[in-house]
Amino acid sequence: MAPKQRPANRRVTRSLKGKRPVSVKPAQRAVAPASGKLGVMLVGLGAVATTFIAGVENVRRGNGRPIGSLAELGTVRLGRRTEGRAPRLRKFVPLARLDDLVFTAWDPIPDDAYKSAKVAGVLEPQHIEPIADFLKSVVPMPAVFDQQYVKRLHGTNVKQGATKRELAEQLREDIRAFKERARCDRLVMIWCASTEVFISPGPAHRTLKAFERGMDQNHPAIAPSMLYAWAALRENVPFANGAPNLTVDTPALQELARERHVPIAGKDFKTGQTMMKTVISPMLKARMLGLSGWYSTNILGNRDGEVLDDPESFKTKEESKLGVLEHILQPSLYPELYGKVYHKVRINYYPPRGDNKEGWDNIDIFGWLGYPMQIKVDFLCRDSILAAPIVLDLVLFMDLAQRAKLGGIQEWLSFYFKSPMAAPALNAEHDLFIQHTKLKNTLRWLMGEQQITHLGVEYYDYYEKA
Ligand SMILES: NC(=O)c1ccc[n+]([C@@H]2O[C@H](COP(=O)([O-])OP(=O)(O)OC[C@H]3O[C@@H](n4cnc5c(N)ncnc54)[C@H](O)[C@@H]3O)[C@@H](O)[C@H]2O)c1
Repeated sequence: MAPKQRPANRRVTRSLKGKRPVSVKPAQRAVAPASGKLGVMLVGLGAVATTFIAGVENVRRGNGRPIGSLAELGTVRLGRRTEGRAPRLRKFVPLARLDDLVFTAWDPIPDDAYKSAKVAGVLEPQHIEPIADFLKSVVPMPAVFDQQYVKRLHGTNVKQGATKRELAEQLREDIRAFKERARCDRLVMIWCASTEVFISPGPAHRTLKAFERGMDQNHPAIAPSMLYAWAALRENVPFANGAPNLTVDTPALQELARERHVPIAGKDFKTGQTMMKTVISPMLKARMLGLSGWYSTNILGNRDGEVLDDPESFKTKEESKLGVLEHILQPSLYPELYGKVYHKVRINYYPPRGDNKEGWDNIDIFGWLGYPMQIKVDFLCRDSILAAPIVLDLVLFMDLAQRAKLGGIQEWLSFYFKSPMAAPALNAEHDLFIQHTKLKNTLRWLMGEQQITHLGVEYYDYYEKA
């Protein structure tokens, strides 16, 4: 594993000069109330999107619980441990109610949410049939789709336009029309569509001007996902990216997000194997245990697996999955422990398993005096069952961010992503529990509450004597 850490903190601190103190003072800003309807615009109406929509509707009808959603089930400790204050997160911050969510989607495959949920094969009939009419009412709008960027799909429900700008303008019209039709007060857009082929950041992504010129000239480095993101930002709609595509993680679209004060977040929902990785590797580092190799392999048989069977889409996913260990283990700081890690990730398309993925990890570690040991993980997870609550939380928190006027990158939502976006001078934080603390501290900061440092000396005699 090549030590690719960013330069030392001194340089980072210098480049962020003048911005640092805000993180310690509670925010003064008022958060607008979550009144009225929140429109959820999903790009892609496949396994994740339909499991999310059907799940919300089942919860609304009392036919299931939103397990896995921090926003719905989590609490937040406030003040000292002796105060016993731990309100429900949703009581602490003003979040949209599930009853106020309305859905729409785009997809190049014309199946409505009912048919698509059945094809995905994630949910049992008991969670689909009673809400069949509701699901049938979610019919995908024609997508901006180009097979060049997702090789294994053949879409028929596709927009036509001479330039990428024209296509993106059609998306803007869709956004405005949905807002009016569904009588929404606010909107959020989440990319739940297929993983696009790997694109390196280039000149067309460097500035907003270059990007918009590229749209006019049909520049190949401008993928459909970027057009959705551009349209969302132009319409002041927060945009989160659940796939590893570059999409909004470019200077050009970050410039637009800052200019319009619209929240953005990404990339790639952190669900199964990578979630485990971001829990186990901080444990190894915390105990100063060494790592010599980490081999991860998966079998999955859903449409996502089929798309990822294409080497170009897999490369996008691979980059997202590989970065995690490097960032957490910091080989440049601990070369004797993590300087020579062999890290391999494989995804194998295996239709019989459908959405029920199986992920194996073989982890070769070493301890005291260099003695080798092994950890084996066999995670039989359900991809979309893990992803759906992440979509819900992102919908609710991105909307909160918008109402709190937090424009630009939402690093506090890195908890949900494999490849989190952060300010250009920063290394993104990957450790799941640091991300969790960051999220809750951001909410405390927003609501004017003290940060929790876990210092705790004040509970002991020596504190008085010091
Ligand atoms: N499920 C997980 O655990 C998980 C975790 C991380 C990331 N993801 C990512 O989430 C995305 C969705 O996963 P899924 O299992 O629902 O896949 P899926 O294949 O079931 O659904 C994706 C849908 O996106 C549509 N699509 C493709 N290009 C589009 C475009 N340009 N515009 C609109 N729609 C388009 C496809 O037709 C398909 O219906 C994938 O990129 C996947 O890699 C999923």
